[in-house]
Amino acid sequence: MENGELLLRTMPMPADTNSNGDIFGGWLMSQMDLAGGMLAKELMRGRCATVAADAFKFIRPVNVGDVVCCYGLVKHVGTTSLCIGLQVWVRRSHEPSSEYVLVTAADFTYVAIDEQGVKREYAKTDPRLTPERCE
Ligand SMILES: CC(C)(COP(=O)(O)OP(=O)(O)OC[C@H]1O[C@@H](n2cnc3c(N)ncnc32)[C@H](O)[C@@H]1OP(=O)(O)O)[C@@H](O)C(=O)NCCC(=O)NCCS
Repeated sequence: MENGELLLRTMPMPADTNSNGDIFGGWLMSQMDLAGGMLAKELMRGRCATVAADAFKFIRPVNVGDVVCCYGLVKHVGTTSLCIGLQVWVRRSHEPSSEYVLVTAADFTYVAIDEQGVKREYAKTDPRLTPERCE
């Protein structure tokens, strides 16, 4: 992902497979939400909640033992929300020296919330929130 930040690196296990033997889409969605949520929490300096996951594309299957890397880049900065474009790239377990391939992409939107779970404005001080750094 051009200019994207590596947010999470992991490996799926046999318990994460569907009846075809491929990795569940839901497992990938959850890893992406974790990855995006960590970045959102850092950028919004506190609690945040996922409000939307859009434009999901499952491009290639993921297999047990693949090295799974999730990259993210801020796409839109709102008043209380933040949209992060996420991409998952994998290196195949049976070809350890192969190139990484793009398997999944989606846009996740997070809202900054206070202790009561009510939306709040957040400071736009992090350089990753400036328009020239966004996608
Ligand atoms: C987050 C939450 C507090 C916001 O509630 P709200 O006060 O009604 O929020 P609003 O509808 O005014 O939206 C707040 C921001 O989110 C954005 N937003 C809301 N729904 C959105 C959607 N479907 N797609 C993109 N952006 C969305 C709004 O545009 C607004 O952005 P801005 O302030 O940057 O302009 C509430 O939706 C909530 O608690 N949701 C559940 C969160 C949760 O449990 N997540 C885990 C899901 S498994």
